[in-house]
Amino acid sequence: MKTIFSGIQPSGTITLGNYIGAMMQFVELQHEYTCYFCIVDQHAITSPQDRLALRKNTKSLAAMYAAVGIDPAHSTLFIQSEVPAHAQAGWMLQCVSYIGELERMTQFKDKSAGKDGVSAGLLTYPPLMAADILLYKTDLVPVGEDQKQHLELTRDLAERFNKRFNDIFTIPEVRIPKTGARIMSLQDPLKKMSKSDPNQKSYISMLDEPGQITKKIKSAVTDSEGIVRYDKENKPGVSNLLSIYSILSGKTVEEIETIYTGRGYGDFKSDLADVVVNHIKPIQEKYYELMDSKELDLLLDEGAAKANLAAGKMVYKMEKAMGLGRKK
Ligand code: TYM
Repeated sequence: MKTIFSGIQPSGTITLGNYIGAMMQFVELQHEYTCYFCIVDQHAITSPQDRLALRKNTKSLAAMYAAVGIDPAHSTLFIQSEVPAHAQAGWMLQCVSYIGELERMTQFKDKSAGKDGVSAGLLTYPPLMAADILLYKTDLVPVGEDQKQHLELTRDLAERFNKRFNDIFTIPEVRIPKTGARIMSLQDPLKKMSKSDPNQKSYISMLDEPGQITKKIKSAVTDSEGIVRYDKENKPGVSNLLSIYSILSGKTVEEIETIYTGRGYGDFKSDLADVVVNHIKPIQEKYYELMDSKELDLLLDEGAAKANLAAGKMVYKMEKAMGLGRKK
C-alpha cells in the first residue's frame, strides 16, 4: 500500500478552505493508502503564538480531523512535536538547503514582507515540512494549491540528499484537487481564503454557527451582472461561490448554473448558505462530542507511538547516511 502524509497548522480556526482543499481529500483517500495526518504545531510557532491558544487549537484541530471522518483504523493522527524525529530530520535537511532557495519561497516572502523581527524559523520552515513528508517514505501529499512550491522544494531536497549521501528517500508526488484547490476570500475573491485574514467576514470557519455562515455568504462580494455563471477571470466572486456549492452539493457547476438561470444572486446565495450549513452541521456535532470525550487523547497517544516508530527508523538512516554519531 502506498503512503500519504499531510499536515495542517493549529494556528487558528479551521476554514472551509482547509476543509475543501485538504481534509476532503484526506477522507476520500484514506482507504486506499497508509495515511499519516499531522497537527504541525512546530510549524505554527514560526509565527508568534499564545501558549494557551496554541494548546487549545491543537486539541481543536485533532477533534476536527476526527470529526470530518479521519478514521484511526486507517490513518495515524498525531502531533508533530510529540515525534522528535521531525525536528531532528528538519535540522539535517536545513543543512542541505540553500538560503537562496528558501528566500525564494513565496510563503516566506508574503509572511515576512514589511515585518520586523521575522523568525529564522519562518525561513527554515520548508526543510521542516520536507522532513515531515520524507520521514514516512511518503508517495503522495494531498494539499491545496498554495503548498505546491513547498512540495517542489521537498522533492529537490530529497533528490539532493539521495545523490549526496545515500538513496534513502522516496520522492513524493503532490496531489491537488481539480476543484477547490484554492478557495478564495469571500470579501476579496482575488485573495486566498485564510484563517489569518483580520477580516472575519472573509472566511467561513468550520465552527461558525448557521447564522454567521448565512450572513457571511450573503455579504460575499460578487459583481453587478446578476447572472450565476462560472467565469473565473471576469467573475471571480461568483465563480468561487459556484465552486463551493458544487463541491459540497455534489452537483456540477453546469447543473447549478441551470438551476439559477433567470434568478438573481439572492436565491443563489441563500441556497448556498443552506448547502454549507447542512454539510457542516454533522461535522460540528461530532466535533463537540469529541471535545468532551477522552477519546481524543487515546487516539493521539496511539498516533504518536506509531509515528515515532516509523519516523525513528528514518532518522536513524539519515544520521547514518550523513555520518552522525557512531552508526555504522
Ligand atoms: P495550512 O495549515 O496553511 O493549510 C492546511 C491545508 O489547507 C490547504 N488550504 C487551502 N486549500 C484550498 N483553499 C484555501 N483557501 C486553503 N487554505 C489552506 C493548504 O493547502 C493545506 O493543504 N505548510 C502547510 C502545513 C504542513 C504540511 C506538511 C502539509 C506542514 N508540513 C507536510 C503537507 C505536508 C500549511 O501551512 O498548511
